[in-house]
Amino acid sequence: MTVKILKSLFVRATICVAISALSCAAVLAQDEVQTFQPDQIAAGAKLYADNCSVCHGQKMVDAGGGFFDLRTFPPKQRPRFINSVSNGKNSMPPWKSVLSQEQIGNLFAYVVAGEKK
Ligand code: HEC
Repeated sequence: MTVKILKSLFVRATICVAISALSCAAVLAQDEVQTFQPDQIAAGAKLYADNCSVCHGQKMVDAGGGFFDLRTFPPKQRPRFINSVSNGKNSMPPWKSVLSQEQIGNLFAYVVAGEKK
């Protein structure tokens, strides 16, 4: 009897530890998401309106052309963003001769954080 109770306590304690480890991992993962300066996002918003909205839609809302929906771009894949935008991807032209790396970084800030409510 006592052994049984102890056992179930042990199981519960183990489950608790496992769950808090999970929520801890979730909190840590959130911390990895970068924070951006408001002026970076503002600069990115202007660059976006001038260069990207023709295809990707105003404020990233799909204009109906079936282009990549930038609101779904994974925030943790900054290198992919920089690479695709710099070098182009399929029917998207490369931007590295038009925009500086800093400007592309500002665009990333806008895409990840600019239209979040
Ligand atoms: C001429 C139309 C056009 C313009 C202008 C354009 N894009 Fe794209 N973009 C596309 C197309 C088409 C795709 C989908 C490419 C694919 O996966 O085949 C795409 C995909 C992307 C992707 C996803 C790439 C990936 O890794 O999957 C990003 C990020 C992106 N565009 C950002 C931008 C930014 C930032 C600008 C402005 C500097 C821009 N695009 C301007 C057409 C355009």
